[in-house]
Amino acid sequence: MDTWEVLEQECLACRECALCQTRTNVVFGTGSREAEVLFIGEGPGKNEDEQGVPFVGRAGQLLDDMLAMIGLSREHIYIANIVKCRPPENRDPLNVEQEACIGYLRRQTKLLRPKIIVCLGRIAAMKIIDPEFKISRQHGQWFERGGISMMALYHPAALLRDPRRRPETFEDLKTLQAKIRECCDHTYQEEGAAYA
Ligand code: URA
Repeated sequence: MDTWEVLEQECLACRECALCQTRTNVVFGTGSREAEVLFIGEGPGKNEDEQGVPFVGRAGQLLDDMLAMIGLSREHIYIANIVKCRPPENRDPLNVEQEACIGYLRRQTKLLRPKIIVCLGRIAAMKIIDPEFKISRQHGQWFERGGISMMALYHPAALLRDPRRRPETFEDLKTLQAKIRECCDHTYQEEGAAYA
């Protein structure tokens, strides 16, 4: 039987692709291992590589703000990436790198058993939802895959580059909030409990 501890140990020691030669830290994932919502990014950048934690740079700050808009914080969710090691110069992860790494994310997903998966950006959406995924047309739409509801948001780094996409993303976040209310049991529960 797989466990988080075994999986994390294996992942931290991984040498399955060339990214292991240039990484400072493996970025395994963070958040609640009880979470009902899994966010999936593309791969670590410079800050994440230095700290071993996903989404800690400017894009991460924006992600925190996006979560806060719908009453969420990192303790409510789990965050992982398609590739766990930083691609040099922040290039897109190559297919061979994604293939070498995707098994770790599959195992994380099996252990977590999320009700909802949110892909951050095109690369994650193409790997998780549909190889033909078009982020500009299909962000905010729901897809069912193996009993899990999935959607994609624009990547926070894309929103930093092009703030004109922020209003659409706010609509997508409201859609996400409604879906969480509909199909998650405890994600928003503490909020209510505080007033119980
Ligand atoms: N961008 C990502 O896709 N993932 C991170 O962890 C940080 C930036």
